[in-house]
Amino acid sequence: MSRDVEDHRIHNNSQNLPFGEVVERHLSRRQILQGGLGLAALSMMGGFGLGGSNGAWAQNKTPLALAFESIKGSHTDAVVVPPGYRAQVLIPWGTPLNARASAWQKDLAMTPEQQANSVGMHHDGMHAFPLDAESGSRRFLLALNNEYIDQDALWAPQGGPTQPDGVRPADEVRTEINAHGVTIVEIRRQDDGGWTHVVDSPYNRRITTATPIMLAGPVAGSDYVRTRYSIDGTRTRGTNNNCANGYTPWGTYLTCEENWPEVFVNTGERFSDDARLGLPTDRGRYGWETAAGDGEQEDEFSRFDVTPRVGEASEDYRNEARTFGYVVEIDPYTQAMAVKRTALGRFRHEGCWPGPVRAGEPLTFYTGHDSRNEYIYKFVSAAKWDPADAPRPGNEADRLAIGGKYLDEGTLYAARFDEDGRGEWLPLTPDAKTPSGQTLAAALGLAADDTAGIIIHTCDAADLMGATPMDRPEWSSVDPVSGEVYFTLTNNSKRTAADTEASFTNDGTAIDAGGVGYATAPANVANPRANNENGHIIRWREQPDNRFAWEIFVFGSDAGAGDNRSGLTEDNQFASPDGLWYDTRGEGQGILWFQTDNSDNAVAEYTNDQLLAVVPGALGQQNASGAGSVIDAANQSHLKRFAVGPNGCEVTGIFATPDRTALFINIQHPGNWPADGDALGQDATRATNGQVRPRAATVAIWKEDGGQVGL
Ligand code: FEO
Ligand code: CA
Ligand code: CA
Repeated sequence: MSRDVEDHRIHNNSQNLPFGEVVERHLSRRQILQGGLGLAALSMMGGFGLGGSNGAWAQNKTPLALAFESIKGSHTDAVVVPPGYRAQVLIPWGTPLNARASAWQKDLAMTPEQQANSVGMHHDGMHAFPLDAESGSRRFLLALNNEYIDQDALWAPQGGPTQPDGVRPADEVRTEINAHGVTIVEIRRQDDGGWTHVVDSPYNRRITTATPIMLAGPVAGSDYVRTRYSIDGTRTRGTNNNCANGYTPWGTYLTCEENWPEVFVNTGERFSDDARLGLPTDRGRYGWETAAGDGEQEDEFSRFDVTPRVGEASEDYRNEARTFGYVVEIDPYTQAMAVKRTALGRFRHEGCWPGPVRAGEPLTFYTGHDSRNEYIYKFVSAAKWDPADAPRPGNEADRLAIGGKYLDEGTLYAARFDEDGRGEWLPLTPDAKTPSGQTLAAALGLAADDTAGIIIHTCDAADLMGATPMDRPEWSSVDPVSGEVYFTLTNNSKRTAADTEASFTNDGTAIDAGGVGYATAPANVANPRANNENGHIIRWREQPDNRFAWEIFVFGSDAGAGDNRSGLTEDNQFASPDGLWYDTRGEGQGILWFQTDNSDNAVAEYTNDQLLAVVPGALGQQNASGAGSVIDAANQSHLKRFAVGPNGCEVTGIFATPDRTALFINIQHPGNWPADGDALGQDATRATNGQVRPRAATVAIWKEDGGQVGL
């Protein structure tokens, strides 16, 4: 989401002590790297973080070589890729999914019906689910998030949005609601190497902010989510602001609700969680709550106004926003109702990525809260993985029932990063002990067994347990062989110098512990730069007993900056890393791809948002400075710029076909792209001539020689 429209206001205003004061003091990182620990301690480190080629992580990788030259930065109304590659526009916003929608044209007037049967707006996270015998390299289902809307583009032909006498017209709101959510669409490869979608595929469907969805996990059926719509608290309507994504080993899609608070409004007394997460107090982002519903569903729009009225919670919509903020599971192969998996926490979820899958062991999923000074989380399933649950030919298992087995019971943890290069996962369970010695339930003012209450107040719980406030956690990805977890930390304008005090804005109401959330937080070793405008990527490896060993992988910067800690040059300078994917290319080998969502800084002056690639195994050098990163001036040339997006866009969402002969990315909120006309099959690298009605789109990239992308 572009910085000018996103709302990452400070919603964390905890009175936690800053990082360095709430964790135990350890030997400095430099001491460890210089051999200041005994053999036992080194063994605990698992080799991770040790300098030079002796590190275990360096030994188990065979370096690949990226077989393309880094492209220059650019500012054009086109996608730029290296020589020898093709890039094609695929399923831009408004592409018909079935015969009920009219063909796209530049002056097409969007309606609720048209939008409900077309690809949604502002493509973001996505994943492919195979339909063919080649495991999906020629035919697959694409599950695609449609994060938010560009009202100017949506209403360009009619003019709008409108709000006569302060009331949004119902059909305008229905159209906007139908432009949000998720698109499922069948995709096929053509004989010329290009790609197309299948109109009227029985798999094609939309899930929007109006679609009925089940609640499951600890919050389902609790008093926190009873509404007039669902008196027993087991259902809600819609998912929205679906940013990044994930997927499961049993073949389902995970879509994650990020900036959902903005569509609600509460003009009365807010719950503490409403305040922490930033529900507006005067008007929802689009004023949906002002529209009048029809006779069949008179609460169709008024549900977005969660102001408590007189009477019981089940008589109004005060709890409606508490049915949002979750990871949502979708079976892309069926029309089954999607399920919100509340056990994975409630906050502004960016995405949800699976860890290594091993028979007989619990499953892990990593998820982050994208707001300044919020947290990184991990969910560990109670159930142990049974390979019989993996998708296989002829297996007609109920995938969402399998989802319930692994995602409705387990433990949610928040991450604390320690100064010695290690860290700890802090359980968010009612009986967990906070650093002050209280149980977490007591610290939150909850009943001793109120797991649902902890989920509703997930970020407060993480505060109270002493988690480390981070520089806006965005995407994650896991090397399935080494288990290394990569996480983008996109930027943080509310990170202050290390010698400053944290500041807090919360009034502490309803939190017995006296307030939660950081307004500003001083720099710490995991987020070491004050006013971090360029961001960084961190990585870690799990260790026994809920511990992990971490290091900073690379710092964003412009090449000429004084704080260019990773030694970047014009060939690979970047800022605000966001999308990320560890692309396995065989045992112990892989390419780490990452994407940017940047604006208004020196890197933006040099280039539009971009896609970069690096082979982590080719590096093997831990910078021996506490302020250093794995990538430094000596090895930064392994990091290359692969693609640059058109003016105004963010580059986000990524996967490749299993045979790696095609890579897919999304271009979100372009300013003037793609070119007019039927964009299906169009060359994404062709510059626009004149101003067009911009459309977010997926871009398929492949090598003209048919080889693997990147190699
Ligand atoms: Fe929707 Fe945090 O990006
Ligand atoms: Ca993002
Ligand atoms: Ca972003």
